[in-house]
Amino acid sequence: MGFSILACLLRLLLVLIAAAAATSPAAAQSRPPSPARILDAALQDYAYRAFARPRTGIVYNATLPGNLTGIAVSAVRLRSGSLRRKGFAGYFQFGVPTGVVVQPYVERVVLVYHDLGNWSDYYYPLTGYTYLAPVLGLLVYDAANLSAVGLQELNVVASGGPISVNFGGNVRTVPAGSAAPRCVVFDLDGMPQFRDLEATDVCSTYRQGHVSIVVNSSEIAPSPPPPGAIAPSIPTPEEIRRRKLKGVENCRQCGWGCHSIGAPGCASAVFGEV
Ligand SMILES: *[C@@H]1O[C@H](CO)[C@@H](O)[C@H](O)[C@H]1NC(C)=O
Ligand SMILES: *[C@@H]1O[C@H](CO)[C@@H](O)[C@H](O)[C@H]1NC(C)=O
Ligand SMILES: *[C@@H]1O[C@H](CO)[C@@H](O)[C@H](O)[C@H]1NC(C)=O
Ligand SMILES: *[C@@H]1O[C@H](CO)[C@@H](O)[C@H](O)[C@H]1NC(C)=O
Ligand SMILES: *[C@@H]1O[C@H](CO)[C@@H](O)[C@H](O)[C@H]1NC(C)=O
Repeated sequence: MGFSILACLLRLLLVLIAAAAATSPAAAQSRPPSPARILDAALQDYAYRAFARPRTGIVYNATLPGNLTGIAVSAVRLRSGSLRRKGFAGYFQFGVPTGVVVQPYVERVVLVYHDLGNWSDYYYPLTGYTYLAPVLGLLVYDAANLSAVGLQELNVVASGGPISVNFGGNVRTVPAGSAAPRCVVFDLDGMPQFRDLEATDVCSTYRQGHVSIVVNSSEIAPSPPPPGAIAPSIPTPEEIRRRKLKGVENCRQCGWGCHSIGAPGCASAVFGEV
């Protein structure tokens, strides 16, 4: 008798624990959405508007409002069966392998691509790290209603292997002796996860979300003086201020491509050692 009461209480306790576990994610979802999630929703809307009379498998670029200049968004509609069997290689920097399954099942999906460009730091601030490449995103939605707004992403399972992200040619170099660059992968909640690079300029992820390449800011080595440079005299405070301003200025102008057009002021401003 006493035993069955105990068993009964134990069962009640388990039910309560299960209920608490089930409600906590819901409680987490009721937090106000982050700026990055608000952006995801806005970009889904702009991406879908790019589909006037969409043809399956054709990539369409979205038109963004002026207050999002610097961000690039594209969208492609695919049959989910084709995505699973064939993947989608060469979607900008993303290589989607075979075996990608969406849940719940829908007949067609839309893959939305983001390049956050100079907005990367703003939407994905990462204290202690410096971005060496723009934050890129790949998000998957149901294609059933191309007028839909506020869509939730589908669940994505990469069962055949990870999605690769090849930043080739768009990664800033760090001076020799700095920490090794690492991949950072953000899930839809914006939680960063650090991973090693798969190869030079290549990251991989099993999830949808955002990806970039970073380096620990405190481990960036001072850049070597340019060949033939004369050892500078000790700069005056005014000289330092002028050089700082010049560095920041160059940086705004050249954005992500600055290393390739060789704006030295930009590199030193970004790496904080003007
Ligand atoms: C779409 O945008 C990409 C950059 O995001 C660009 O390289 C490509 O030329 C654009 N395509 C069209 C058709 O405008
Ligand atoms: C950008 O402007 C549009 C209107 O053109 C507005 O609806 C939107 O909230 C603005 N977005 C941001 C991020 O400021
Ligand atoms: C990104 O660059 C554009 C101009 O190309 C500018 O209008 C925008 O304010 C910049 N964004 C940020 C966050 O600096
Ligand atoms: C960066 O590197 C320094 C020195 O190795 C270390 O103390 C610090 O924790 C690292 N920061 C991050 C954010 O990993
Ligand atoms: C598609 O979405 C729009 C906007 O949410 C809605 O007004 C419309 O009724 C939807 N159409 C269908 C067929 O569900």
